[in-house]
Amino acid sequence: MAGAAVDFVTSFIERLPDAPAADLDGLEEAMRALREPVPEAGGDFGDLLGNVADAAGKGFNTAGPGYLAYIPGGGLFAAALADFLACSVNRFVNVWEAAPAFAQLETTVIRWLCDLFGYPPEARGILTSGGSISNFTAIVTARRARLPEDFLDGTLYVSDQGHLSVLKAAVLAGFPPGNVRAVPTTPELRMDVSALREAVARDRADGLRPFLVVANAGTTNTGAVDPLAEVVALARAEQLWVHVDGAYGGFFQLTERGRRMFAGIGDADSITLDPHKALFLPYGTGSLLVREGRLLREAHRVGGDYLQDLAPEGDVPNFTDYSPELSRDFRGLRVWLPIKLHGLGGFREALDEKLDLTRWLYYRLRETPGFELPWEPEVTVVAFRYRPPSGDAEEFNRRLLRRINESRRVFLSSTTIDGRFVLRACIVSHRTHRDRIEEAARIITGAARELDA
Ligand SMILES: Cc1ncc(COP(=O)(O)O)c(C=O)c1O
Repeated sequence: MAGAAVDFVTSFIERLPDAPAADLDGLEEAMRALREPVPEAGGDFGDLLGNVADAAGKGFNTAGPGYLAYIPGGGLFAAALADFLACSVNRFVNVWEAAPAFAQLETTVIRWLCDLFGYPPEARGILTSGGSISNFTAIVTARRARLPEDFLDGTLYVSDQGHLSVLKAAVLAGFPPGNVRAVPTTPELRMDVSALREAVARDRADGLRPFLVVANAGTTNTGAVDPLAEVVALARAEQLWVHVDGAYGGFFQLTERGRRMFAGIGDADSITLDPHKALFLPYGTGSLLVREGRLLREAHRVGGDYLQDLAPEGDVPNFTDYSPELSRDFRGLRVWLPIKLHGLGGFREALDEKLDLTRWLYYRLRETPGFELPWEPEVTVVAFRYRPPSGDAEEFNRRLLRRINESRRVFLSSTTIDGRFVLRACIVSHRTHRDRIEEAARIITGAARELDA
């Protein structure tokens, strides 16, 4: 069975570059085939693998080189092997005594991530299922650290370009949506720090309790980076917790350009960082780092009589005390194996390549008549629209997006900024290289030319 599964995966990955960037043909039939009652008797593995192969062929080709929509990640094959190993040995890593060496391995991974940002030895972290849960865990931690139990007058601040998961996390953490302030941004779509200062002052004057600012290290819309050092300085003066949402951009800290963009990030109280985005790992791998690690623990530890036999934590933490989860998968191996196998240098080079490809596409489109690129890329998003000589520009750009995606060689997504429809190409997958970006440029400019004819 393992051999058959590996054969399927090998040919699936080999075919990724030629597979459609999105395939939604015959979807109804493919889904109908999977609507069935639970079987009483077992079946044949080969048949079941056939079902998996059919299902994998439908949808967006998120693992392929042409997928430039939303935030790609690719999914490194070594991580799949790590999951195979982890699921097969099925050890429990969330209390250290149950799998001490594996818990140490995961602790080492967290330490590597902390080192990347110069976090001190007392920093702690947790591998989560993704950025949304990391942001949620951060907000709960900040709430427990900075507000009393009666916290409904607490207010938090994120730029109007912040990810929706911040609002969702705040609501799940118990705050009314109205307590989340959308701080205006500068023309570069970075948080306007004087607007932040004014919003905090206004709330204090109204008797509210500002307690948290969430800054972006790479927004989803355009990859904009908030002025982190300035945000941290204001937050210190105002005694606010600073959380940096680096879910998408954070790993560019591995590059020299990233470190320059993120100056000041190491002074933040907590950082969300998604290995399933710019570390190219498969979906389901996020992380949260907290500078003063005991605050993460104090926010999540509630005890439990049936765990009384277990040893208290030493150098290696009981991860369950740092997270909402008791049981969970062994995510550490999924991060550890690819890093050990490829070396951090491999990731650094790949991320530098993505920064270069982004700039290449940006300049290529900018020099093509008709294209507007209002924001110079900071991380790896190229946001653009086409200005038709006449007619409804939004309608034109919607058609442009459809036309581009109909190529089936690249798949882009759109967003709305300042009320205007904008296309975006996000270049993060480890499988996306110069050839595909040159092709993307040809497809995008060709589609605009045809529609404008
Ligand atoms: C900046 C940012 N924060 C948070 C998230 C949420 O992460 P996840 O999808 O892993 O829950 C995303 C997802 O794209 C993101 O781009």
